[in-house]
Amino acid sequence: MATVRASIHGQWSTRLAFILAATGSAVGLGNIWKFPYIAGENGGGAFVLVYLGCIAIIGIPIMMSEVMLGRRGRQSPINTMHTLASEENVSPHWKWLGWAGVVSGFLILSYYSVIAGWALAYVFRTGSGLITGQTADGIQSIFSDLVSDPERLLAWHTIFMVMTMTVVARGVRSGLERAVRLLMPALFVLLIVLVGYAWNTGSFDQGVDFLFTPDFSKIDADGVLTAMGHAFFTLSLGMGAIMVYGSYLPDNVSIAKTSIAVSAMDTLVALLAGMAIFPIVFANGLEPGAGPGLIFQTLPIAFGHMDYGAFFGMLFFILLVFAAWTSAISLIEPAVAWLVENRGMNRVFASAVAGLATWLFGLLTVFSFNIWADVKLLSGIKVFQDSTIFDLLDYLTANIMLPLGGLLIAVFAVWQMSRNSSVDELSMGDGFFYKIWRFLVKYITPVAVFIVFLNAVGIIDLNG
Ligand code: PFF
Repeated sequence: MATVRASIHGQWSTRLAFILAATGSAVGLGNIWKFPYIAGENGGGAFVLVYLGCIAIIGIPIMMSEVMLGRRGRQSPINTMHTLASEENVSPHWKWLGWAGVVSGFLILSYYSVIAGWALAYVFRTGSGLITGQTADGIQSIFSDLVSDPERLLAWHTIFMVMTMTVVARGVRSGLERAVRLLMPALFVLLIVLVGYAWNTGSFDQGVDFLFTPDFSKIDADGVLTAMGHAFFTLSLGMGAIMVYGSYLPDNVSIAKTSIAVSAMDTLVALLAGMAIFPIVFANGLEPGAGPGLIFQTLPIAFGHMDYGAFFGMLFFILLVFAAWTSAISLIEPAVAWLVENRGMNRVFASAVAGLATWLFGLLTVFSFNIWADVKLLSGIKVFQDSTIFDLLDYLTANIMLPLGGLLIAVFAVWQMSRNSSVDELSMGDGFFYKIWRFLVKYITPVAVFIVFLNAVGIIDLNG
């Protein structure tokens, strides 16, 4: 029963366009900003190994499931879930999964934009030569001057939100396709240049050792949850971003091959970022567990001392902004698609509404680095005793909402949807590879997510 639905929002022009757009969504702040600092906070090697395992056995199968549902439904995640549930004769409540995704995207973008704003600010701080020749201490104070000033953070957050909503308003296809085609390879080249720099001047062996030699005594249940949550976050899974991109995917494209390609590129970028950053961290006696400021306090030291460092630094942060930009667009696309489909808005108006709401909510993050830095809403709970509002938002979305969303997507794809429908939509036959996918999504993903959750809330303790 092949579906003949068409998306009212249009389609990617080619398979490559989808791969680039999905890679653009996946490769973002998660790879270059977040991965290194959470790996640093969770002891390095063991965390990286758990993360890679999660990508392979949970991430790729879930990505295939999400693209599959999106392409079959060909609407915003809310309407896609509603339509597919009715076609499969299961509960219409599945549409709430679409809603949960829209809310996750909104919450993530509200803080994502603030961090992308830091990257924007650093384009100017590096390009102007401010970092040139600075010591680690000098670089550190440039960073704290920025984040402690709510007005400056607000200004950069505003600029980034306007950039994002401008592209979304024009439609994802025009502009975006062309931009990612140029920018993603450039980002790769620059990362390799930086790894080369770290190799020559940093404590490369120590950095690589930190990243790739697992010491399981350094990771606890919460670290495993963070690794799994990050697998979802970095691949943009569990909230409908990849589903909505899948809804613009032409029919004849292989979902399995494209999902593997996107996941592989995303992983490569994260590992390269780690190999660029940790050697510099160790060579300069910095703290690998420094938290969210890590890349803003380490890479500029390298740029400040290399030939043409101001230029390369500026280029690096421009590319980081672009990586974040192509991800931000996908975070809000599910909401905008729904506003267009169900509220009869045109794209421009829908983008303005969604963008304004996200911008406003982003103020919580802006203030949690300065005037509300001491607001610890859940200080009564041990793991959250030091968590700011930003930390809580990040934890709630990445560690809870995305894995839960992914789990439900898995449940829908194999327990609710008929075998015929998934065989039809994945178009890879009913053989070995289909069976592996089905097994992973049917048993491994739900059980893994469930155990990690239980473990993290302390009901069972795998470490004990
Ligand atoms: N994958 C993006 C990153 O690694 O920066 C973040 C992200 C984008 C998460 C889109 C979720 C999403 F739906």
